[in-house]
Amino acid sequence: MSIERTLSIVKPDAVAKNVIGEIYSRFEKAGLSIVAAKMKHLTQEEAEGFYAEHKERPFFADLVAFMTSGPVVVQVLEGEGAILKNRDLMGATNPKEAAAGTIRADFADSIDANAVHGSDSAASAEREVAYFFNDNEICPRG
Ligand code: TYD
Ligand code: MG
Repeated sequence: MSIERTLSIVKPDAVAKNVIGEIYSRFEKAGLSIVAAKMKHLTQEEAEGFYAEHKERPFFADLVAFMTSGPVVVQVLEGEGAILKNRDLMGATNPKEAAAGTIRADFADSIDANAVHGSDSAASAEREVAYFFNDNEICPRG
């Protein structure tokens, strides 16, 4: 396993529940470092572009509406095997299927309001990190 970076989003439902810190704590306790972060309210265009891979799916319009319904916190996580480690911390897309102790099991209400996003592969991590951050906004740990 090597040091990777992955793109994570604390979604509007989790921001509204005031659990940003609890979610960040899970990343840090698992050995992932937050090397870039910003809070923002996504525009329709930003959300559509980010989730472009899903644009033919029946849930796309609802997904974009949800992701623009309130502020999100976007971060780059860095560490050993960060992409898979973050997906393991998140749990399954549907919180009803998410393993106990995962972020989605503990904080998500439904499959659409499911607390967090995480890149699912090296290719998507590269695209998604660059979607939100310039190189000079990322502060690697030495
Ligand atoms: P997906 O990439 O399949 O899940 P994940 O976030 O675990 O990588 O889907 C992206 C988001 O789309 C998902 O987090 C929530 C939403 N979504 C729905 O609202 N309904 C669905 O049936 C699916 C599969 C996803
Ligand atoms: Mg996905």
